[in-house]
Amino acid sequence: MSQPTIESILQEKRLFPPPTEFAQKAHIKSIEEYKQLYEKAKTDPEGFWAELAETELDWFQKWDKVLDWQPPFVKWFVNGKINISYNCLDRHLTTWRRNKAALIWEGEPGDSRTLTYAQLHREVCQMANVFKQLGVKKGDRVGIYMPMIPEAAIAMLACARIGAPHTVVFGGFSAEALKDRLVDAEAKLVVTADGGWRKDAIVPLKEQVDKALAAGAPTVENVLVVKRTAQQIQMEPGRDHWWHDLQKGASGECPAEPMDSEDMLFILYTSGTTGKPKGVVHTTGGYNLYTHVTNKWAFDLQDTDVYWCTADVGWITGHSYIVYGPLSNGATSLMYEGAPRASNPGCLWDVVEKYGVTIFYTAPTAIRALMKMGEHHPNSRNLTSLRLLGTVGEPINPEAWIWYNRVIGGDRCPIVDTWWQTETGGFMITPLPGATSTKPGSATFPFPGIIADIVNQEGESVDGNNGGYLVVKHPWPGMMRTVYGDDDRFRRTYWEYLRPKSGEYIYFAGDGAHRDEDGYFWVMGRVDDVINVAGHRLGTMEVESALVSHPAVAEAAVVGKPDEVKGEDIVAFVTLEGEREPDEVLEKELKQHVVQEIGAIARPGEIRFTEDLPKTRSGKIMRRLLRSLAAGQEIAGDTSTLQDRSVLDKLRGGA
Ligand code: PRX
Repeated sequence: MSQPTIESILQEKRLFPPPTEFAQKAHIKSIEEYKQLYEKAKTDPEGFWAELAETELDWFQKWDKVLDWQPPFVKWFVNGKINISYNCLDRHLTTWRRNKAALIWEGEPGDSRTLTYAQLHREVCQMANVFKQLGVKKGDRVGIYMPMIPEAAIAMLACARIGAPHTVVFGGFSAEALKDRLVDAEAKLVVTADGGWRKDAIVPLKEQVDKALAAGAPTVENVLVVKRTAQQIQMEPGRDHWWHDLQKGASGECPAEPMDSEDMLFILYTSGTTGKPKGVVHTTGGYNLYTHVTNKWAFDLQDTDVYWCTADVGWITGHSYIVYGPLSNGATSLMYEGAPRASNPGCLWDVVEKYGVTIFYTAPTAIRALMKMGEHHPNSRNLTSLRLLGTVGEPINPEAWIWYNRVIGGDRCPIVDTWWQTETGGFMITPLPGATSTKPGSATFPFPGIIADIVNQEGESVDGNNGGYLVVKHPWPGMMRTVYGDDDRFRRTYWEYLRPKSGEYIYFAGDGAHRDEDGYFWVMGRVDDVINVAGHRLGTMEVESALVSHPAVAEAAVVGKPDEVKGEDIVAFVTLEGEREPDEVLEKELKQHVVQEIGAIARPGEIRFTEDLPKTRSGKIMRRLLRSLAAGQEIAGDTSTLQDRSVLDKLRGGA
């Protein structure tokens, strides 16, 4: 299997037009229609979004002004009053969708549940009432640390219903990482489960919450616990409450709070270039509209679809495209607790067959892992219900794209390669499946309303086939509003990194990209100190801070190394304190230490002990050299600024 190298992507020339039959029935039916929408949105962005806001969403009160842009701060639908939980639930109840499946859930052990819109509404109201009973008020933050069970979505919608911003923490994060997020968000309540199923084992979520709270998260007053795995857990009287106990007495009616369009909907932490994750803030009206419209057009959501996004609700993909986007559209969204595992490598295809999934959305790292497991797994299941495939999270190598197209899509399903980020709220560059001819490895064209460009270090557009930094030049409704509690970091990171001479504010995504002669965008990956391991975003500094918090470590430098399946893997170069000698035991201990500090997703694939790290004369670690070394490549480029050249020889010799 070839690696997702830039070279293989650059050589890709194949073109896949939308199937005629698909295009005829699609929301957006032709490239001409896309171009018209794109032009309309470019000429009159406010008119374009206002029309969609009016036709696609329900508002309690209309806005006075569509856009208020005080760079880099933005407001959409100023003074509009709306509730996203109302748009996801209540408004469907007066239509035939009342008894349509809103969520179909499949547990890893094979148990399952379907909730209609009416049933989901009832449970969301019950949980919202329980939140109120536990003292949660509008504006209070709620931490959600859950397995992939319906109650995760219910908790999010219940927060939205009463105007309590949620911060969902991925269940794979450690107690330490959970604590940091709960502290930063000053969460008042934590919603969790006793445990969750993951690859035939129980993930002890409640135990992690106990540890996080013991380590100090003083604002947390209560913990609401959903029973999932039924193993023994500690329940602290007064603080911890079983959901099934409180649900019994809770009313199934709870009016949705009229929220200001710009009220905070959620905080979601993501990695940046410092050791401290950023709390990305999304607000209500613009996010509701943007996830709704992008989901509808890029996935061509129809009422007959069974739509399955395999992400976890702990990531932005789960927020925007398992919960809010699909439910706002009145779609049927499938949630799956499990993952392909040794005991059942074909489990995803069983789910597709069992529910007749029509739209399937996953990450390139999963596609490559599934490729490795062999075609006989998908080939032995009936996948003919599928009509559209999606991918997200990292550049997809053409070979994986072609496999996905042939083996999973049966050469009949368009593939939407969606480029976007936690910060962007929703898809930014993506094909529209009835309109866009796709090229394997390219996310194709910007969504209508998105003015994407590629610029050089001076912030000036680069022409034609040249590469550069991917930027966005006009605000869009789904964009993040700030870094929670740190407006300055928001301004510096995204808006002041690249400043064109014109002085205009442009959004810097942190990715490198180029555009080909047909105007297709090809996203190449991060150009900052963020690495993308199996589609999970990690800051190198974050992993370094975890390593140096171990008493044996003096210094650490972390880089990404190309990996066949994960896209990138972590290599850590480590120098030790005092007399401590490197050995296998210590290597294991350090890997485990990172798992404890951050979570299993951050476990370094490799630790290389060294006496010294290559530094410039001013003391900056030369990561570029370490990246080449980790990848086993010759060191190219300038090394004249290196303080001590012998360090390189030692590193090459594997000191
Ligand atoms: O590097 C890009 C990569 O994932 C980063 C965003 O990560 P995160 O905020 O965790 O959100 C992931 C899910 C939206 C981007 O800066 N990325 C995401 N989608 C693609 C991608 N790289 C290439 N192609 C994509 N389709």
